[in-house]
Amino acid sequence: MTNDPLLQPYRLKHLTLKNRVMSTAHEPAYSEDGLPKARYRLYHAEKAKGGMALTMTAGSALVSRDSPAAFGNLHAFRDEIVPWLAELTDACHEHDCKVMIQLTHLGRRTGWNTGDWLPVLSASPVREPAHRAFPKQAEDWDIERIVADYAAAAQRMQAAGLDGIEFEAYGHLMDSFWSPATNRREDAFGGTLDNRLRFAFQVIEAVRAAVGPDFVVGVRLVADEDWQKGLSREEGMEIARRLAGCGKVDFLNIIRGHIETDAALTGVIPISGMASAPHLDFAGAVRAETKFPVFHAARIADVATARHAIAAGKLDMVGMTRPHIADPHIVKKVLAGEEDRIRPCVGATYCLDRIYEGGEALCIHNAATGREATIPHVITRSDGPLKRVVVVGAGPAGLEAARVAAERGHTVTVLEAAPLAGGQVRLAAQNPRRKELIGIVDWRLAELERLGVDIRYDCWAEADDVTALSPQMVLIATGGLPQPPPLEAGEELVTTSWDILSGAAKPAGSVLVYDDNGGHQGMGAAEIAASSGAAVELVSPERFFAPEMGGMNHVPYMRAFHRHGVRVTINTRLLAVRREGNQLAAVLGSDFAPEWREERLVDQVVAEHGTAPLDELYLALKPLSRNRGAVDYERLVSGGAVFPSQDAAAPFDLARIGDAVAARNVHAAIYDGIRYALRI
Ligand SMILES: Cc1cc2nc3c(=O)[nH]c(=O)nc-3n(C[C@H](O)[C@H](O)[C@H](O)COP(=O)(O)O)c2cc1C
Ligand code: SF4
Repeated sequence: MTNDPLLQPYRLKHLTLKNRVMSTAHEPAYSEDGLPKARYRLYHAEKAKGGMALTMTAGSALVSRDSPAAFGNLHAFRDEIVPWLAELTDACHEHDCKVMIQLTHLGRRTGWNTGDWLPVLSASPVREPAHRAFPKQAEDWDIERIVADYAAAAQRMQAAGLDGIEFEAYGHLMDSFWSPATNRREDAFGGTLDNRLRFAFQVIEAVRAAVGPDFVVGVRLVADEDWQKGLSREEGMEIARRLAGCGKVDFLNIIRGHIETDAALTGVIPISGMASAPHLDFAGAVRAETKFPVFHAARIADVATARHAIAAGKLDMVGMTRPHIADPHIVKKVLAGEEDRIRPCVGATYCLDRIYEGGEALCIHNAATGREATIPHVITRSDGPLKRVVVVGAGPAGLEAARVAAERGHTVTVLEAAPLAGGQVRLAAQNPRRKELIGIVDWRLAELERLGVDIRYDCWAEADDVTALSPQMVLIATGGLPQPPPLEAGEELVTTSWDILSGAAKPAGSVLVYDDNGGHQGMGAAEIAASSGAAVELVSPERFFAPEMGGMNHVPYMRAFHRHGVRVTINTRLLAVRREGNQLAAVLGSDFAPEWREERLVDQVVAEHGTAPLDELYLALKPLSRNRGAVDYERLVSGGAVFPSQDAAAPFDLARIGDAVAARNVHAAIYDGIRYALRI
């Protein structure tokens, strides 16, 4: 029996949770038609396999029709959900992982123009800036109906065999009644704390009556909105005390902060470069005050911090939610003494940003998450012939391909032109705020060392260098080099964003950053230039700038921009640059009014227009390869041999991956790396 505090069982009512690790509610937007079908099930089953004790499924499963999905939420208001949830629950129970679900009415945190186009409501007609709907004030008949909806949804969850439920009470309908920021009512649901809690207790009582005394019911609640006009710590603590003392609730899952804007949301869910475990002490204070089971998650990203949270008595169950999106097998690795092999969550928050942009949650550097049906988390040895594989380039695509190919038993050699691995990830990690990204590289390098992969640095590979290794498979992961935007004149006068990011070029006194890509590169260059004291104007041809970056990642850039006075100009294209004395004149134009022109006189023009693939080696090897570089995309996606043979006598198949094909992002590179390497 281990004495690791994290691995001790925990008794919650009649349930024995086998350890202290859980995944808190998070909607990955894998639902289909509002239902948790195979993709959803496989995603949670993988976490169960990986050893966690409790998975809180869904995120904000919807109890009512007039709470339309904001990010692929499950429809807990429909009976059809029951068999799907039952299947998911059974799949997790097979691995002794308990399953609960978060239920909510989103209140004002959604839009009226989706689902059934029913009006959005809240305690009072106070708009949430993030979702922009103007809610109506919930009427008496709304309150009655929604209380009944909660009870009916809870019964459905019980019928599906789930181990419990929790209510979401931060930023949604339930706590819109609690918070002075959102409750302006003068009736029995406004004013005093008793009144503001009335709706929540009506729900709790109706649900308890519906599910009986034995079913586990918890509340994920904000116990301090950390907001001058919001719920104070004192009132929040009082709510926690009342919930703990009401005899109808079994656990509290503690949140601190508010979520009505992207900036506020990063206080509740910090991203890379922000504090680690910022609310752990607060959650511990609630536990000490209430002497009640307390769960909590907020950037407890590594096992040591999680262990501390339990050992120090701050939490009963520790949520490691994004960490399990990055590696669903955390507990299994701890149990196997392989803690150092856990794929780190680097805080990139690509996962969460994607759901707010209407996509599904994907991890920046684990392409298997959410794709369990086709991409395995644990790579098994190939049962086909083992091959000599040469990977050219040790950026994210190349490192991932090398890792997976080596796991499959192939003999892998990596040739890298630079003295260090990492490619553009290493460049991005130069930003001190984003330095954790280097975990993407370091984790793979450690795996490659364990697997005995030969990496040759400072090796600018020509075709002969590759063929001298007698490969049977060659993967070209040479990445790209920055390319200038198409200009009428003056391309040679432009500094690239890479030069600024790498420190190769110092920002000058006044800098115009032209971001024609919309991701981190241009924003990062502007941030670095502004932080160095330059007067910066960021110019974007887009309707809203940095469209390739989600709202949470936008926050620290904007914080720096406002602090350093960066001026942002949208809807404007850089047309040309010319010398003007010892300065540069940037000529700006408009797609909308072609006659409109303006000029800026600056010391430096920095441009970001993605990369052009470094494809010389690929083109040189193409005629020597068996498949002439061709890939059968249909089979790449659906299964079968992916490299059509064009010259059976040629010694190797050839593919290029990542930005060596075209400028994309880290996730695309990693996904290429694994899916091609799985097919060797
Ligand atoms: C993709 C994604 C979706 C989320 N959706 C919800 C949600 O619907 N309800 C909720 O209470 N929290 C949601 N969260 C927040 C998580 O439950 C958790 O509080 C947050 O990720 C911080 O914990 P971590 O640092 O361990 O990831 C979501 C998180 C992610 C990454
Ligand atoms: S995308 Fe980033 S924050 Fe999200 S799970 Fe992956 S590593 Fe963690």
